[in-house]
Amino acid sequence: MNFVTGSTGLVGGYLILELLRRNEDVRALKRSSSSLDVIERIFKAYEPEHWKDYLEKIEWVDGDVLDYYSLEEAMTGVKDVYHSAGFVSYQPKDKPKIYSINQKGTENMVHAAMAQNVRKFCYVSSIAALGAPKKELDYHTEEDFFQTGESNTTYGFSKYYGEQEVWRAAEEGLKMVIVNPSVILGFGDHTKGSTKLFTKVNDGLKFYTPGATGFVDVRDVVNTMIALTQSEVSNARFILNGANASFKEVFEMIAKTFGKEPPKIEAKPWMGEIYWRLEAVKSFFTGQQALVTKETARAGQHISKYSNQKVCETLNYEFYPLHETIDHIASLLKKELD
Ligand SMILES: NC(=O)c1ccc[n+]([C@@H]2O[C@H](COP(=O)([O-])OP(=O)(O)OC[C@H]3O[C@@H](n4cnc5c(N)ncnc54)[C@H](OP(=O)(O)O)[C@@H]3O)[C@@H](O)[C@H]2O)c1
Repeated sequence: MNFVTGSTGLVGGYLILELLRRNEDVRALKRSSSSLDVIERIFKAYEPEHWKDYLEKIEWVDGDVLDYYSLEEAMTGVKDVYHSAGFVSYQPKDKPKIYSINQKGTENMVHAAMAQNVRKFCYVSSIAALGAPKKELDYHTEEDFFQTGESNTTYGFSKYYGEQEVWRAAEEGLKMVIVNPSVILGFGDHTKGSTKLFTKVNDGLKFYTPGATGFVDVRDVVNTMIALTQSEVSNARFILNGANASFKEVFEMIAKTFGKEPPKIEAKPWMGEIYWRLEAVKSFFTGQQALVTKETARAGQHISKYSNQKVCETLNYEFYPLHETIDHIASLLKKELD
């Protein structure tokens, strides 16, 4: 039996479908408040004829990563655990929630996994846990660990502390793998997360930031997670990154596949600095989420590159080319964005 958290999100939805296609049993954690919209969208897109049959194969359990006992009970009889529940946010007001879900939630997960003697634990961390950008030509590798005091994000800290909980459990005997995906691209909720990049470009985004980062297809994320978890490899972390590209290049690829104009105006650092401040004031008075925060404005200017050599060599794996990922997602999204 496989136990999956984050089942109602982008990674969880693709992961469960892939496990079910391989005839694996899946028990999935959801909150009583969770919506099944994203997982249903994914199942309908990839299994239009059989999506209901696949959905019915899931054994759902209600719980919360902040409720230890719900986790211990949910992991009874489980072999492998995939912990992808997390909270991705760069909003300053979300700081306590970011830490509690990503750090405390992960601590609860590893304790429950050890109490239930599971075979292997796969933790979905992030490249944000690898630390601040390096010099322009240097690639981040699995050897990079956070230096406190660097210009890192709250979210990055929380994923790093989550990893520390998993490493601590490994010292106490839990067999684990940690994956550090870059920006994950997939057919998720087009109103949030990385899938929103597609909606923005389709709507005629005017500005791009000069930064660059890593991008990875969600299908590669779940394939490598399963392969690593089912392999003999343990107590190691792996960067999951399909390609390093500038935001400009990615926006141009998305615009091309939608037949739209790409954003043409480069947002200079000073524009970002003014914009996030204006957004903070607006958010304070209206209570609405800021579109750009100090952290996202600055991250958009950085150039970071990530090496995928370790996972490619360990699994003999090849990632989807970035243009193929973008064409694939756009073809699924076109129907709803037109
Ligand atoms: N998306 C990216 O680009 C990216 C990149 C690198 C790493 N990651 C990491 O990958 C993981 C999955 O990301 P994603 O993009 O799939 O996120 P997502 O679409 O936002 O989904 C998050 C999932 O976590 C669940 N969750 C949140 N708080 C929970 C709690 N207290 N108890 C139980 N479940 C809870 C959510 O449940 P509800 O439906 O109830 O909210 C949802 O199923 C996260 O750990 C994230 O940090 C993401």
